[in-house]
Amino acid sequence: MTAPSQPHVGDQYVLPTGKDDAARLDIIHAVYGPVSRKALEAAEISGASRVADIGCGTGTIARWMASRMGPAGRVDAIDIAPQQIEVAGTIPPETGSASIHYHLGSAYEPGLPEHAFDVVFCRLVLCHLKEPGNAVAQMASLLKPGGRLVLVDMDLRDTFTMPPCPFYQAYIDECVIPYQTKINVDYSVGRRLPQLLMGAGLSTDAVMVDQPVFREGPEKHLWEKTWTSALQRAVSEGVITMDRGLELIAGMERHTASPDVWVAVAKMFAVVGSADALR
Ligand SMILES: C[S@@+](CC[C@H](N)C(=O)[O-])C[C@H]1O[C@@H](n2cnc3c(N)ncnc32)[C@H](O)[C@@H]1O
Repeated sequence: MTAPSQPHVGDQYVLPTGKDDAARLDIIHAVYGPVSRKALEAAEISGASRVADIGCGTGTIARWMASRMGPAGRVDAIDIAPQQIEVAGTIPPETGSASIHYHLGSAYEPGLPEHAFDVVFCRLVLCHLKEPGNAVAQMASLLKPGGRLVLVDMDLRDTFTMPPCPFYQAYIDECVIPYQTKINVDYSVGRRLPQLLMGAGLSTDAVMVDQPVFREGPEKHLWEKTWTSALQRAVSEGVITMDRGLELIAGMERHTASPDVWVAVAKMFAVVGSADALR
């Protein structure tokens, strides 16, 4: 049994939702789609008949999973933000895909049937939660015997540029780290994914790590964009002033405007856990 869920915990999502963030989530999918798909292939997504996506955002990966499963399958995709569910519901899956059912729900209280899913997927949600272990235990409880849990999450401290940019490192040191400490989340939770699987009674069957590097395109500016969106919240928490935050972001933008600068985006970890231990 898992600890009783606490609906208020970790539900203060710090980024915009719905139409305001859909383009950024598309960039996230472009950048981190390959490692996510590789982990899902390792979890045998094509053979799955029922799949859950926890914290589905605008449904980018739910639609991809549905396309791999075929028309007899079913994807249940939940998110805590109604605006995400609203946008996701407006984007049709590819013809011939599994059906996708979007629901409002929390990672702590998914509201989905236990022991019913072949694959449960969760990307870039645990880093926003105060109790990721509690959420992973809930996800594990959704798995059929032999089912697979695929977790994808990051280490934001590993974001850097070549040649180096002091503004990037300063933003991490002066804003990202104090902010995560203040709101009690872990933006490097990717490194702890195997421990989280173990804590939920699952074995770790695969671990993958990916850190794409870009010299152009919107992908190159993903974290500048993300940090700009989150700055107001960091200022409200008192970890940085607006002037200093804007100065650091402007410094990053000046640096990365050059085609000679390459940006290594946050390192991403993907793990596949199996419920064999739950048999
Ligand atoms: C960075 S987005 C990732 C969305 C999607 N998984 C993807 O990879 O495109 C994080 C998502 O987690 C959702 N979220 C945050 N806290 C949550 C919670 N406690 N339960 C469920 N979803 C949550 C947010 O609303 C947001 O849609």
